[in-house]
Amino acid sequence: MELAIQEYAKRLKLSWIRQHYHDVQAASNEEYLLRLLELEVQQREERRVNLLLSQAALPKIPSIPFKWDEIEYNQGLTKDYLLQSQFIKNQENLIFYGGVGTGKTFLSTLIGLNAIQKYGNQVRFYTVAGLVNRLLDANEKGTLSRFFKQLEKLDLLILDELGYIPLHKQGAELLFQVISMCYERKSLIITTNLRFGEWNHVFGDPILTEAVIDRLIHHSHLVVFKGPSNRMKESLLQS
Ligand SMILES: Nc1ncnc2c1ncn2[C@@H]1O[C@H](COP(=O)(O)OP(=O)(O)O)[C@@H](O)[C@H]1O
Ligand SMILES: [Mg+2]
Repeated sequence: MELAIQEYAKRLKLSWIRQHYHDVQAASNEEYLLRLLELEVQQREERRVNLLLSQAALPKIPSIPFKWDEIEYNQGLTKDYLLQSQFIKNQENLIFYGGVGTGKTFLSTLIGLNAIQKYGNQVRFYTVAGLVNRLLDANEKGTLSRFFKQLEKLDLLILDELGYIPLHKQGAELLFQVISMCYERKSLIITTNLRFGEWNHVFGDPILTEAVIDRLIHHSHLVVFKGPSNRMKESLLQS
């Protein structure tokens, strides 16, 4: 009987039940079955979350709580809206603007982590430089369309540190393709130390820059990272 149970559980891919059905105690047949199914489902969910976490490549999160009073956002945005994946459900983007060390990477990681653990979203974190290198590499190897298919499965793409290094023409164009692909279909978080008027330095071409900004600011929320003393908001829209 033991062998048959093992075999059926294997065929049905009930791996938790296969290994642990001996350990479950219950007062009735019904309760026993319920417990088994519950624990199998629970274990599958844990496995899925772990897989999503490893695919997301999130940076390590600081062990301190995030200070929400150091950021500013527009009406219609709340802490819960960000942490409860509401912006992802509505396919909206977030632009995180602020100086170095003001918490942009921290908050984007925290949001990504919540999206995975509480909502089972598919998330991927890249620095802009890291993604552009990956795109250039895939382009060279002829695997770009495969890479795009991978990106298409995501619910949330986090692009950290736009603006730290200028992009070459091809890199800028490939990044634009990714942003266009996400347009109205997925959510992006982009962190940057540059105001929109300066994005031309990154993309190197005013028409491309305008197209990028145009795609991004539709359905976007701006979050300004003031830091303990910085005041960044006033400067964002200046050129
Ligand atoms: N709002 C905040 N609340 C708590 N800690 C913060 C906050 N902003 C920054 N920090 C601290 O500063 C560190 C650097 O933040 P980080 O997210 O890397 O900044 P940025 O990406 O904007 O350069 C964090 O690891 C954290 O320790
Ligand atoms: Mg950062």
